[in-house]
Amino acid sequence: MSEETKRASLVQPKERSLKNILPYLLLGGTFVIVLILVTIAMLLVTGHEVAETKAPTSLEGLAAEGKALYLQLGCSSCHPSEGRAGGFGPRLSTTNLSEDSIRNTILKGKGAMPGYRFSETQLNKVIAYIQALKPL
Ligand code: HEC
Repeated sequence: MSEETKRASLVQPKERSLKNILPYLLLGGTFVIVLILVTIAMLLVTGHEVAETKAPTSLEGLAAEGKALYLQLGCSSCHPSEGRAGGFGPRLSTTNLSEDSIRNTILKGKGAMPGYRFSETQLNKVIAYIQALKPL
């Protein structure tokens, strides 16, 4: 083997291997960058969703607990169909009273309706329920 051939055989494999892995390096690098971008995008999207859905969910939860109280306390006996129909008392689903007036009506009573002793939390739940009522 001549000196030149020896050198060539030593150098060539090196050059060839670098040429061979270069596309893979570029591909791998691009893949990693895309992966990072997708992850960031997903984090942004899911973070956004959580922030948007949290409030309505808790309000729905409040109204659901208010409904339980409403039924438990017998409001239905005078405001039947879970408050959606009129009975001895008026239909609540179409009330045009403000939140404060609803609060006062429940606490102090009104006309033939007795007043109720509620904790602030319970009162807020029942009010959330009445405000969430929609006619059937
Ligand atoms: C004994 C029957 C009776 C019970 C029990 C009763 N209510 Fe009433 N409610 C009435 C009557 C009658 C009125 C109408 C009062 C008036 O305007 O003179 C009324 C009015 C209301 C109003 C005002 C509606 C409007 O648009 O003017 C709300 C709100 C209300 N009731 C909520 C409740 C809740 C909540 C409960 C249970 C904690 C309840 N009521 C239990 C009889 C009752």
